[in-house]
Amino acid sequence: MATRQLKLGANLAGVGNSISFWRHPDVPIDASVNLDWYKKHAQKAEEGKFDLLFIADGLYINEKSNPHFLNRFEPLTLLSALSAVTTNIGLVATLSTSYSEPFTVARQFASIDKLSGGRAGWNVVTSPLEGSALNFGKGEHPHHALRYEIAEEHLNVVKGLWDSWEDDAFIGDKANGVFFDPAKLHTLHHRGAHFSVQGPLNVARSRQGHPVVFQAGSSEPGKELAAQSADAIYTAHETFEEARAFYRDVKARAAAYGRRPDDVLIFPGIGPIVGRTEREAERKYEEIAGLVEIGQALDYLGRYFEHFDFSRYPLDEPFPDIGELGSNSFRSTTDKIKREAKELGLTLRQTALRASTPRSAFIGTPEQVADRIQQWFEGGAADGFNVRTVVPGGLDDFVDLVVPVLQRRGLFRTEYESDTLRGNLGLPVPPNRYAAARAEAAAGLSRP
Ligand SMILES: Cc1cc2nc3c(=O)[nH]c(=O)nc-3n(C[C@H](O)[C@H](O)[C@H](O)COP(=O)(O)O)c2cc1C
Repeated sequence: MATRQLKLGANLAGVGNSISFWRHPDVPIDASVNLDWYKKHAQKAEEGKFDLLFIADGLYINEKSNPHFLNRFEPLTLLSALSAVTTNIGLVATLSTSYSEPFTVARQFASIDKLSGGRAGWNVVTSPLEGSALNFGKGEHPHHALRYEIAEEHLNVVKGLWDSWEDDAFIGDKANGVFFDPAKLHTLHHRGAHFSVQGPLNVARSRQGHPVVFQAGSSEPGKELAAQSADAIYTAHETFEEARAFYRDVKARAAAYGRRPDDVLIFPGIGPIVGRTEREAERKYEEIAGLVEIGQALDYLGRYFEHFDFSRYPLDEPFPDIGELGSNSFRSTTDKIKREAKELGLTLRQTALRASTPRSAFIGTPEQVADRIQQWFEGGAADGFNVRTVVPGGLDDFVDLVVPVLQRRGLFRTEYESDTLRGNLGLPVPPNRYAAARAEAAAGLSRP
């Protein structure tokens, strides 16, 4: 049996994976809207045999938003373009269930899945920022619990629509004039608390059956949603112990839904900083950290808390008591920021700098970074990692210096196993639900 292999995603974000990144002389100022920049990084990730490209997203900005958020490509549009200049790498786009219609979402992802030959993935998010409501004319921003309730129904509808056509529905019999087999076309007829969708969808399944479903959200309802119906979860943890506890928790929840541990892959996000020596890696971090202005760092921190203005508090006093603020937006993240500030006795300045330019635990020589990855992977804290670029040239360093070490250790592939995302992630192709039900009924009938 093949040994378990590490999975890797490249989280591409133009000028924006740390707040001061854009100020570095080596970063093109238009990187977030520069197709050549994305193309170059996508091809580099594919050269490094990464499983997937990952594009995050948001639906509300103001003048305090992170530079990358101010002017960036919509993820599906960007990945459609990148699908034409890549061949094996998966394409995972973020799209919110709080501000979209399931029919459109099902259609868009099914389309990119077919046009990329089965490489698409959807990162399901629930839009943390209250301001998002102002852009959609739908009244109040739904509360955290309601957003997850909507997400669950939304995802079920999308998956239902994806099975509208059985895989052999389109016969194309020209002689007899039969384009498709009507018995293999299915209408969903969904009527629920939040969506009313008849179907069927006007696009069939791709080679991988359904696009891969990621979920980004680590609170209780976030973990439940992932455990019940996602193929993977994107999460953020700084320490091995914290990541391992999260991993065990999600895998146990998945088992309670009758799923196997490998049915839900866990991808912590990491921002590796690699140098040929430890000193070089430290210097790269200091170069970026040195570009941060405290005002920017406070804005960055404030965004997690509904763009709260932290500048009203003294910088060098303990992190202020702000009560429940943040629990309706980035809840799992804001809970963690508040908890760590208290436990570690951090000041406001330290908290803001820590949030805006975290010093990655994955810093050092290629061997040191690979050691840390191996520890998390083999120690039950991760199935893979979503790799962010936090210093200029970070993806190149990772591909050129760390990937070969991981490959030498037998932890990571030297060639793609497949040209679909499911194939590379080792996820099964979900059967069409109607075809599966018919096959089951037929097997039941033929049993004595
Ligand atoms: C690691 C991680 C990545 C996220 N990425 C996005 C994103 O790209 N876009 C978005 O609108 N929300 C994103 N979210 C926010 C979630 O979808 C969710 O709205 C918010 O975190 C609250 O859920 P939680 O408390 O379950 O984490 C992310 C959350 C986490 C934890």
